Amino acid sequence: MKVFITKKIPETGMKMLEEAGMDIILPESQDLTRYEWLEYCRDADAVLNVGSRFRYDRAFFERCPDIQAIALYSVGFDHVDVWEASRRNIPVGNTPDVLSRATSDVAFLLMQSVARRASYNFEKVRAGNWTDFDPMHALGQELYGKTLGIFGLGRIGFEMALKAQRAFDMKIVYHNRHRNEKSEKLLDAQYVSFDELLEVSDVLSVHASFSPDHRGIFNRSVFERMKPGAIFINTARGGFHQQEDLYEALVSGQIWGAGLDVTDPEPMLPDDPLLQHSRVCILPHIGSATREARNGMARIAALNIIAYSQGEIMPYCVNPEIYSRR
Ligand code: DGY
Repeated sequence: MKVFITKKIPETGMKMLEEAGMDIILPESQDLTRYEWLEYCRDADAVLNVGSRFRYDRAFFERCPDIQAIALYSVGFDHVDVWEASRRNIPVGNTPDVLSRATSDVAFLLMQSVARRASYNFEKVRAGNWTDFDPMHALGQELYGKTLGIFGLGRIGFEMALKAQRAFDMKIVYHNRHRNEKSEKLLDAQYVSFDELLEVSDVLSVHASFSPDHRGIFNRSVFERMKPGAIFINTARGGFHQQEDLYEALVSGQIWGAGLDVTDPEPMLPDDPLLQHSRVCILPHIGSATREARNGMARIAALNIIAYSQGEIMPYCVNPEIYSRR
């Protein structure tokens, strides 16, 4: 089976695919144009996609009618029209679990960086502005006993909540489309409405999987309803927040700080005013960027491709219902 891998993945996965006898196509360029990407896809049976730069939408499926399977090197699948893939009986695999700890580590890191103004203070040191001890300057806030609101208590949200609870004895509240009673019990977490989540969270951390109806839900009117002094963390997808509104909410003092591992657009524009704000910490989408998580993702993406090639169900499939139709 001809497998187009859009960007080289860690050796673990490459080796598994080679040993399974896959005919691997790797592009020479690490920075494909849309045209080049489509040309490679047109020539392949399956694609192992790295990153979310290219959209697997209806136009893609129409232009690449021979693609039989898509294995994503990501847990998020918002860049794939899963409905269209399912309509065409094309399985779509993702890489859950293996990156939950790494991604929640970044949410936890951002929460602390913002609370203690680490980026701002580091910039000061770097710029040679390490001034004399000042009892009133650049004060942060402590997290002990505060309330962490999780928007999307799935695997990553759970890991974030667990860390916050163990480290700072934070009280956990959450809002989901559906209640997660198992995690609720383990964390002694309380399910709340979206409005209540805004009202009671000292830190609000976004962990839901992104879908089009989520676009910009953290906007001006939502930031206005958040607890004054709150910290907003987003490690899920930049599309969840309205970036200009977030900046306004920070400047007006409606919320206190923000930590982002995801922005809209990505990469972030260098002149985005958020970058100048002293209670903001921004990272370039590094949630899963550990050797352990990336190796795990490579292994799972390879497993998905290999299972498909052997006529089996992808072990990590986002549209498993297609198999019952076969
Ligand atoms: C994921 O796995 O979805 C990460 O955000 C990387 O894209």
